Amino acid sequence: MIRSAYLAPPGLEAALADEIARAGARIEGWHGRLALSADPPVASAWALDVWTAPQEIEVPSVKAAADELRKIQRNWSAYAVQNHRRMALIAERLPPVKARPLVFPEPAPTSHLGAWTLLAPDRMLATPDKTSPFVNGECMFEEDHIGPPSRAYLKLWEAFTRLGVWPRAGETCLDLGASPGGWTFVLAKLGACVTAIDKAPLDQRVAAMPGVTWRAESAFALSPEPVDWLCSDIVAYPDRLLALVGIWIAAGAARKILCTLKFQGETDNTAAAAFAAFPGARLMHLWHNKHELTFYWQRP
Ligand SMILES: C[S@@+](CC[C@H](N)C(=O)[O-])C[C@H]1O[C@@H](n2cnc3c(N)ncnc32)[C@H](O)[C@@H]1O
Repeated sequence: MIRSAYLAPPGLEAALADEIARAGARIEGWHGRLALSADPPVASAWALDVWTAPQEIEVPSVKAAADELRKIQRNWSAYAVQNHRRMALIAERLPPVKARPLVFPEPAPTSHLGAWTLLAPDRMLATPDKTSPFVNGECMFEEDHIGPPSRAYLKLWEAFTRLGVWPRAGETCLDLGASPGGWTFVLAKLGACVTAIDKAPLDQRVAAMPGVTWRAESAFALSPEPVDWLCSDIVAYPDRLLALVGIWIAAGAARKILCTLKFQGETDNTAAAAFAAFPGARLMHLWHNKHELTFYWQRP
């Protein structure tokens, strides 16, 4: 019996499997990127979406499958691995779910959304509850092709949207590893006062935005200073970033911390667990993350 399922980000199935095993749950098999487990759901940073209440349902026909889903609730999103034609026919019989791209900073969708797939032509797996409000955990935006000098801004948009919190006008932000300035652009656009820390300069248009200051320093040489937000997108070994974050938390200098935790080669889930262990911390893999996790902490 399947009691939970975890949707891995593309190419990061091994990172997810390792995390689930460390949490003491077993993966019985995979359906595409969906890890199927007979154990109750465990917390997962790597999963884009966790199916927390899956039911296996025999569905002899397309109509029967659609009827079963409609009996449970209105809104469903499909995760298709095989039986694409049959899944499309079932989906046609369900109320449409609008998954339009968000316009930042609008809130994440709040309507209740379930997920379903066909494990076989006559066997459906459906979960009325799942952890992500997005279809298959994919948080999409109307992109800004003009303002930001790098695509890293999408990570910050997604993190703020998923957390439901972002800097308010006038708040102070330290942006570590800021160049060329995608994150600094987002923070300054929100009206924050941003100090960008990077030996490399900012894109000129970002540097000229109101409230932006650049300091050509190393993030690791800074002494903690009072700020509302400490943000970091530096490329650093997880242990090194963990030490930096620990110093800032111990100093009580930042009210909120948002960092990208980057992995080179092997995934270091031990370091990831150490980040998650800070009281008040949240660790998540964003749709816009690569081989990365995003760490958020706010002062309790
Ligand atoms: C992935 S890029 C950051 C992209 C940026 N967040 C954006 O939105 O455009 C990483 C940056 O970290 C900077 N970096 C690496 N080590 C650093 C350190 N010790 N202190 C400050 N910046 C550092 C690099 O110079 C590089 O510009």
